[in-house]
Amino acid sequence: MLRRVTRERRDRVVVFGGSGFVGSRVRELWDAEFELLAPTHAELNVLDMRAVGAFLDAAQPAVMLNLAAGAHVDAAEAERGHHHGTVYTLNADFPGRLAAVCGERDIYLVHISTDYVFDGTQAARAYREEDPPNPLSWYGETKLAGERLVQEAHPGACVARIEMPFSGRAHARSDFARTCLRRLEAGEAIAGVTDQRITPVFLDDAIHALRRLVAERYAGLIHVAATNWTTPYDYAHAIAGRLGLDTDMVQPTTFEAFSATRPAPRPRYSWLEVTRFTDQFGPNVLRPFEAGLDAWVAQSTSRV
Ligand SMILES: NC(=O)c1ccc[n+]([C@@H]2O[C@H](COP(=O)([O-])OP(=O)(O)OC[C@H]3O[C@@H](n4cnc5c(N)ncnc54)[C@H](OP(=O)(O)O)[C@@H]3O)[C@@H](O)[C@H]2O)c1
Repeated sequence: MLRRVTRERRDRVVVFGGSGFVGSRVRELWDAEFELLAPTHAELNVLDMRAVGAFLDAAQPAVMLNLAAGAHVDAAEAERGHHHGTVYTLNADFPGRLAAVCGERDIYLVHISTDYVFDGTQAARAYREEDPPNPLSWYGETKLAGERLVQEAHPGACVARIEMPFSGRAHARSDFARTCLRRLEAGEAIAGVTDQRITPVFLDDAIHALRRLVAERYAGLIHVAATNWTTPYDYAHAIAGRLGLDTDMVQPTTFEAFSATRPAPRPRYSWLEVTRFTDQFGPNVLRPFEAGLDAWVAQSTSRV
């Protein structure tokens, strides 16, 4: 589980959740640059804090990236109100305890959160970090509790909220772009909500942004998303158009009609403003949605 420690401590990064959708790409993109230690769930159950402490004592990383989570929004709803359930324990208690453990060991922590901490009622402008959260789903509620516990336990930690990452790389967990592609290639219709606002981020851009946060040891809350918004309908339509698929198979629907089909309530205007990030790191890390989609098309069609 623990590779031989060869480099300087500052280059040693532990990733929890490294087998997941985001984590598997972090491992690919950061492997050459860092000494990455990414125990699988089978190797280390992150809810066993004694084992986590022992792992970190042995590894002595400079940086901890926490991607371990109960990230299935609809499944999480079955545990609504259960503060001892797996979802709350994983998304709230565990990050708080991890932050304390990292703080005690002088380990810089980046913890990942979500736009689902907001209720999505704000139509006039995208959400800023300082806007009051008000999650609708149990997933969002547990993630918000996790954010707060991390910040209380480790003021030097970073909480990065990411939104709808999409990737052309294959993973068991699909995302909106790959779901669209699969359905459209199969000749199946896909519903696209027209009256919603979202800021989906190309996964590689998000990971590049996390890399910058790590380099700067950025402390505090920060949004990582596309620099402009789209709608799910325009998103699906753009995929069909770019790949020469039948745009008529993208069928417009309303947020209200779509929401009625999902177990978990979702935010309607689920858009994140990234000015805090671009002010700090410049305009070339996070990109407009369309540029991210172009990169996704190139990645999906080259299958690299
Ligand atoms: N994907 C999105 O659309 C999205 C959007 C916004 C924010 N986020 C956030 O981004 C982060 C990463 O999400 P993701 O999409 O990569 O999730 P994911 O694919 O579901 O991955 C979750 C990871 O956590 C691991 N894990 C779960 N319980 C564990 C335990 N007890 N011990 C050790 N490992 C455990 C999983 O391993 P096993 O599978 O082996 O259990 C997996 O590697 C999460 O914080 C999520 O809330 C994701």
